[in-house]
Amino acid sequence: MAAFQTLDDLGDIAGKTALVRVDLNVPMAEAEVTDDTRLRAVAPTIRELSAKGAKILLLAHFGRPKGAKHSELSTSMVIDALTEILGREIMFVPEIAGAVVKQSIGILADGDVAVLENSRFYPGEEKNDPELAKAVAANGDIYVNDAFSAAHRAHVTTEALAHLLPAYAGRAMEAELKALEAALGEPEHPVAAVVGGAKVSTKLDVLTNLVRRVDHLIIGGGMANTFLAARGVKVGKSLCEHDLVETANGIFEAADAASCTIHLPYDVVVAEEFKANPPVRTVNVHEVSDNEMILDIGPAAVEALADVLKTCRTLVWNGPLGAFETPPFDAATVSLAQTAAALTREGSLTSVAGGGDTVAALAHAGAKDDFSFVSTAGGAFLEWMEGKALPGVEALKTQSRKQG
Ligand code: 3PG
Repeated sequence: MAAFQTLDDLGDIAGKTALVRVDLNVPMAEAEVTDDTRLRAVAPTIRELSAKGAKILLLAHFGRPKGAKHSELSTSMVIDALTEILGREIMFVPEIAGAVVKQSIGILADGDVAVLENSRFYPGEEKNDPELAKAVAANGDIYVNDAFSAAHRAHVTTEALAHLLPAYAGRAMEAELKALEAALGEPEHPVAAVVGGAKVSTKLDVLTNLVRRVDHLIIGGGMANTFLAARGVKVGKSLCEHDLVETANGIFEAADAASCTIHLPYDVVVAEEFKANPPVRTVNVHEVSDNEMILDIGPAAVEALADVLKTCRTLVWNGPLGAFETPPFDAATVSLAQTAAALTREGSLTSVAGGGDTVAALAHAGAKDDFSFVSTAGGAFLEWMEGKALPGVEALKTQSRKQG
C-alpha cells in the first residue's frame, strides 16, 4: 500500500463533487498574475478529475486576510489566469460552505470547475475548526489535496477535510512528495545540500537536520559569515549574527559527529557599499577589511564546490550563495547552479530545489528547467528540510491507512 492514495486509486467519480485544495497564492501586480507557476502546477489534476466527470470545487487561500473578508484578496482575482491555463470557463462561488455552494453544484455539469472564495476569509479555517470542516465537507464526495506548498498548515482545507472524506493526493502533491523522498528520504549518496540566505537564525532547524542527513553541507549567503566568524574570521561590516557564533559551533560539532563536511568559502567578493556594481575586491576570507562586507562567494570557492557536486549523486538546494539580486553578487549562485544543471542533464545528479528566492535565483541562472525538480513551495519546503512532519501530508497518510 502506498503511503497515501493518489488519483490512480479513484473509483468512478462521474457526477460526484471533488473538493480540491490547490494553492492559488500567486504574486500579483495591478490585478495581473505575475507568476502563474502554481496555477500551471495544479492544471493536470483539474484536467484529470474533469475528464473523469467530477464536478470540481477548488478550495484555496489567497494572502493572509486573517478571518476577515477583503475584496482584493478574493480568489476571484485569479480566475482569469486560471481560465486561460485550463482553456475552459470557471465559475466563481463566493462562499466555501452552505447553501450557496450546494446550489452551485446543482448548476455545474459533470467535469465543470468552480473556484470557491478565499478559505482564510473564514476564522475557522486557520483554527482548523471541526464545525467549519464539517460544513465544507458536507458539499463534497471526495477530497483531493494538490497544495504541497500549504501542507505545513494544519487548517480546515489542508488537514481536517482529509479526515472527513475519502482523501487523495493530486498529481502536483504526488510529484512533490516523490521528488522530496528521492532527495532526503531515501536518497542516493553522496548527498549535498546548499543552504544560503541572509540569516542563520531563520534556518537553524534546517541546518541542524541536514548535518545528520547529508554528506556535504554547503553554506552560503549572509549566514556563511556567522560560520566564518565562529571559525575566527574577521568579517568586517558583513551581515553577521555574532550572538549565534556558539550556535554555529554546535552545528560544526554535530556535523563532525555525523561525518558531514561543512563547506565554507575561502575566498569572497567584498565591497564597501551594498549597491549594484560598486568597486569590489575578491580576497581570501582572512583579508576582509573592517570597512568591507562580504557579498558573494569567490571564484576559487565556487570551483571547489563544483568539484564537490561532481562527486555527489543527490543535491538539495535552498537559498542563494550571495546577494544575487544585485550584480555582480549573483556570480557564485549562477555558476554553481549552472554546474548542478549540467550534472543533472548528464544524469549523474538528482537535483531538487525549493523556496521563493531559490527558484528566482535558478531561473536567473537559466538553470531552473534542468533541475530534476523545483518545488512550488516556500515555507512548506523549509519545514520539510527541517525534518518536520507536514500536517497536510500526514493527514493524507492517515486517511490512506484507514482505507487501505
Ligand atoms: C505560500 O505562499 O508559501 C503558501 O501559499 C502558504 O502561504 P502562507 O505562508 O500564508 O500559509
